[in-house]
Amino acid sequence: DMGGHDTYMHKEIHEQADAVDRVLRGRIDDRFSTVHLGGLNLDAREARQIRRVKILGCGTSYHAGMIGAQMIEELARIPADAEPASEFRYRNAVVDPDTLYVAVSQSGETYDVLAAVQELKRKGARVLGVVNVVGSAIAREADGGVYVHAGPEVCVVSTKCFTNTTVAFALLALHLGRTRDLSVRDGKRIIEGLRRLPEQITEILKQEEEIKALAEEYAAARSMLFIGRVRGYPVAREASLKLKEVSYIHAEAYPASELKHGPLALIEPALPTVAIVPDDDLLEKNRAAMEEIKARSGKILAVAHQDQEKADQTIVVPKNEDELDPILMGIPLQLLAYHTALALGRDIDKPRNLAKSVTVE
Ligand code: F6R
Repeated sequence: DMGGHDTYMHKEIHEQADAVDRVLRGRIDDRFSTVHLGGLNLDAREARQIRRVKILGCGTSYHAGMIGAQMIEELARIPADAEPASEFRYRNAVVDPDTLYVAVSQSGETYDVLAAVQELKRKGARVLGVVNVVGSAIAREADGGVYVHAGPEVCVVSTKCFTNTTVAFALLALHLGRTRDLSVRDGKRIIEGLRRLPEQITEILKQEEEIKALAEEYAAARSMLFIGRVRGYPVAREASLKLKEVSYIHAEAYPASELKHGPLALIEPALPTVAIVPDDDLLEKNRAAMEEIKARSGKILAVAHQDQEKADQTIVVPKNEDELDPILMGIPLQLLAYHTALALGRDIDKPRNLAKSVTVE
């Protein structure tokens, strides 16, 4: 049932405020400025002994994991990174007893992720799941975890589950942080930020008509570049993946800081750039990158917290706490991908060559 929408993708994009509400529900503990995650199976002593966090997932879930790794480093001050599960399982990685492994998956059935989890468990590692589908293979195989509670996602291309997964990681990061050395003040600040998310998502989705007009303009592009740095980079990666999956326009994501090491050679009027420009410590650096692009007659669409004069157009999104900004900044670009695909007459819910869950190698 599409509930009045023409596609599941459109429906699922518009369900995100409710979905985020669900992942937060019943988990916030205002007394201790933390969150309770019932299924984690990790006591405080164990949480304090973790030396590293390694996050494993594929595709969109890997991108959500990149955001999660940054949140865990920032809030819990534990070194953390994300890697495609499909790479990890083939490189005979060193399995470390003091590392917490986290497997991320919407379906809970992706074979590369499941195989990585099984290999880790065989070697005695502790593995948590950040999974949407309750009772799925990865959820069963993991030692514990956080359910994402996005609800059923039917469109092959993931949208609401991506957003909810990033929120689930914020909860995990806050929990680990408050069990370790994150202050009460910062705990409160993050909780207040989390509570603002559903309303801010609704605000973003109200800009659909404007984003649709932009999409109709960009649908003529043969290729697009997505840039961001630190918090903006995984957002750029995910936006680039969304555009190529659903519109079949070639897109590439790059850290803004790496532009001068190669990709600047590509800049010309026919290659538009989408720049993720959060209002954080790196704002000036991002403005400088946009200037480099403008100087070479590149066209720029910015996603930012205030209008960017270096950009040709800006989609303004509401500001949250710096650490939580990545949760929101990709949402307008889901709509951009959607309306680009619509303008090009693509099969939005079932892009060619793709399957909703990849249960084979
Ligand atoms: C992107 C997409 C894929 C999946 C990937 C992992 O829109 O749908 O990239 O994210 O195949 O799937 P899950 O999360 O089910 O493990």
